[in-house]
Amino acid sequence: MKNLLFVRCVVMDNASQIHNRIAYLREQLNSHNYHYYVLDSPQISDSEYDMLMRELKELEDEYPQFISPDSPTQRVGATPLEAFGVVEHPVPLLSLSNAFSNDELMSWHKRALNLLDGQTFDMVCELKMDGLAVALTYIDGALVTGATRGDGSRGENVTENLRTVRSIPLSLRGDAPPRFEVRGEVFLPLDGFNRLNDARAKEGQPLFANPRNAAAGSLRQLDPRMTAQRPLDIYIYALGWSEGKSMPPTHQETLEYLKTLGFKISPYNALCQTIEDAIQYRSDFEEKRESLPFEADGVVVKVNSLELQSRLGSVARDPRWAIACKFAPVQATTQLKQIEINVGRTGTLNPVAILEPVKVGGVTIQHATLHNEDYVKLKDLRIGDTVIVQRAGDVIPKVIAPVPGKRAGKETVFKMPTRCPVCGAEVIRPEGEALHRCTNASCPAQALEKLKHFVSRGAMDIEGIGQKLVEALFEAGLVKNISDFYYLRTEQLLTLEKMANKSVSNALDSITASKEQTLARLVFALGIPHVGSETAELLVNTFSNMDRLANATEEELIAIPSVGPKIAESITAFFRQRENQEIIHRLKEAGVSMEQAVSQPSERPLAEQTFVLTGKMESLSRLDAEARVKSLGGSVSSSVSKNTAYVVAGIDPGSKLEKANKLGIPTLNEQEFIELLTL
Ligand code: IVH
Repeated sequence: MKNLLFVRCVVMDNASQIHNRIAYLREQLNSHNYHYYVLDSPQISDSEYDMLMRELKELEDEYPQFISPDSPTQRVGATPLEAFGVVEHPVPLLSLSNAFSNDELMSWHKRALNLLDGQTFDMVCELKMDGLAVALTYIDGALVTGATRGDGSRGENVTENLRTVRSIPLSLRGDAPPRFEVRGEVFLPLDGFNRLNDARAKEGQPLFANPRNAAAGSLRQLDPRMTAQRPLDIYIYALGWSEGKSMPPTHQETLEYLKTLGFKISPYNALCQTIEDAIQYRSDFEEKRESLPFEADGVVVKVNSLELQSRLGSVARDPRWAIACKFAPVQATTQLKQIEINVGRTGTLNPVAILEPVKVGGVTIQHATLHNEDYVKLKDLRIGDTVIVQRAGDVIPKVIAPVPGKRAGKETVFKMPTRCPVCGAEVIRPEGEALHRCTNASCPAQALEKLKHFVSRGAMDIEGIGQKLVEALFEAGLVKNISDFYYLRTEQLLTLEKMANKSVSNALDSITASKEQTLARLVFALGIPHVGSETAELLVNTFSNMDRLANATEEELIAIPSVGPKIAESITAFFRQRENQEIIHRLKEAGVSMEQAVSQPSERPLAEQTFVLTGKMESLSRLDAEARVKSLGGSVSSSVSKNTAYVVAGIDPGSKLEKANKLGIPTLNEQEFIELLTL
C-alpha cells in the first residue's frame, strides 16, 4: 500500500498536489514521532515509518521549494554550524536554591506561608533531571529558536541541534499561543549514556564523566549530525512566557495544557497538598532513583498557583516559590588498583586513583582524582585497598575512604615520585603549596596537556580532534603549540595511523569551525595559569578583544571584581612572554576570532527604555507583557520616576498613572502598547 502511494505520488506532475502530499507526509510523520517519542506508544511499525520518511525525502529532494523548517527531514541539519550565536532570554532563566534536609524543606514552606500571610497552597513535586536547561521558542506553532540557559540572561543558540531531539516537537498540535517559550531539561537516558561511553572507549576517546556532561557535550556539537546520533530526550517543566492567549492559573494545568500541544511532560510529577506529602515524594524517589531510566539528582517542589508564585517572587536568581531537594550522594565500594601520576598543563603532579570499574548510580567509574599527596595521606589510602567511592550528580567521582577491615596486609603506601614520570626532571613542592611540580618548563607532558586543554569541550571544543589524536599529532611533531592546529594540512593528517579521508576532513572542519568560538572560550583555552572559564568570561566582558586584554595593566585587571593580584600577575606575565605573543599572532593570522560578539542593536528596539505597567490588560497577562518588553531589549520597573519611558495603563490603573501625568511621562493604553510591541 505504502509503495503504491509512493509510485502514484512521484508520477503526479501537478505542483499543488505534490505540495499537498508533502504537507500530508510531514503531518503524518510528525504525528508518528509524537506517538513514538513523547507518548512512547508507536502507531506504526518502524519500517512503515521509514517508508513514509523515504517518500518525503525523495519528494523534497525533487521539489526543494516545498521544504519547510518543521519537516521531520530537517531534524538533522545538513551543514555544520559555523558557531553558536547568542540568544538573549526575554525572561531570565532562574536557578533554584537547595534544601539539604527535610528540616530545610519545612523551613522553606514555613517562610512561604508567612510571606503569604498564612494562606496555604498546593505544590507540584517533580524530579530534578540531571541534564541541562533549554528554552524553546515557538512562533505560529513552529519551533524557531532553541537556546541553552547560559548565564540565565544570555544562552547559546543551539536550535539546529535541538531540532534533532525527537521528543521536541518541530510543529505543535492543538491550540497554541501565537508566540511563546517553554523550558525544560534535556538529558541523556542512562542506557544511551552507557552505550555512548562504550563506543567512545572502543575508539580510545575520553569518556564522559556523567550523563549531564554527555548531554551538554552532545548539545554543544558544532555539527548537528553528531547531536542527532545521541539519544537525547527532554521533559518540559515550565512555560517561559507567552503572548496572545490567556494561560491557565496553575503550574499543573499549564503543564497539562503544554502536553496537549505535543510537549513531553515528566510522568513522575505529582500534586501534593502538604509539605509532608512533598517529603514523602522525595523519600520515595530517593529509594527508586536507581531504577529510573535517567539520572535524577533530587526533586523540585514548586508552588502550584501562578498568582502565588508571582506574589512570592525571587531573591536574586532564586525564586521563593520553588526549591530543590537534592538526594544524598550514591556510594559503592571497589578496589583501588593503582595510583598513577598525571602531569598537568602547568606542571603539577596529580595522583589519580585507578579503580576496578564499578557502577555508581548507573554510571561506571574507573578513575578518580586524588588531588595531591596530602589527600592520599590524610585518607590513609593504600594501593590495593577496598575503597568507598561516591558520586553526587554533577560532581566528579570521589574516593571517600578506605575500608581498613578489608585489608589483607599486601596493600602498599603511596609515595610521590621525586622525578617527573614523563621527563625525569626533579620534582619539587614549593613552600606553602599542596601540589608537587615538575621543574622542567619544557616538559613534554605540560606541552601535551596544554594542547589537550585547548581542544577540550569546555575550551575550543574541537570535536573532530580527540585526546588520542592530540597525542598522535604531538608525537609526530605536527603540533607543538596550540597555534599549530590551525596550520595542519590534509596530507599531514593522512600520514597518521587510523586517519582516513573522512576523519581528516572531520578534524579539519571542526578546527575551522572553532575559529568562530567565543573570545571567552579562547581566553580560557590559552591555558593562562589561574584563569578558569569564569575568570575568562569576566575578562572578556571588560576587555572585549584580545589586544586590549593583552595590553591590560595589573591595576586594570585588579579593578575587575574577583580578579586578585595573583591572577592579574599571572595574566600580565603570560602576555609578556614572547612565545605567547607569537602564538597569539599566529592564531590571529589563521583567522581565529579575537573579538567578543555583540548582539545586534536592531533586535533591541526598546533598549534602555523603562516601562511601568499599571492596571489589568485584556489581551495580555502582566508576565507576558513584561516578557515582551524584555525580549525587545526594554526593562520593566514597578515605580514611576523621571527615567520612566512609558507608563502603560490598563483597566483600573492605580496611582502610577497619576504620577506619570504629574511628571509628564508619556502614557500608553493597551492598544498603543501592543502596537509599540509589534513595531
Ligand atoms: S524549574 C525556577 N524543574 O535545575 C525554576 N528545574 O537549579 C527553575 N532542573 O537550571 C527551573 N529538573 O536545569 C526545574 N523539574 C525541574 C527540573 C529543573 C531539572 C534543573 C534546571 C535548572 C536547575 C535549577
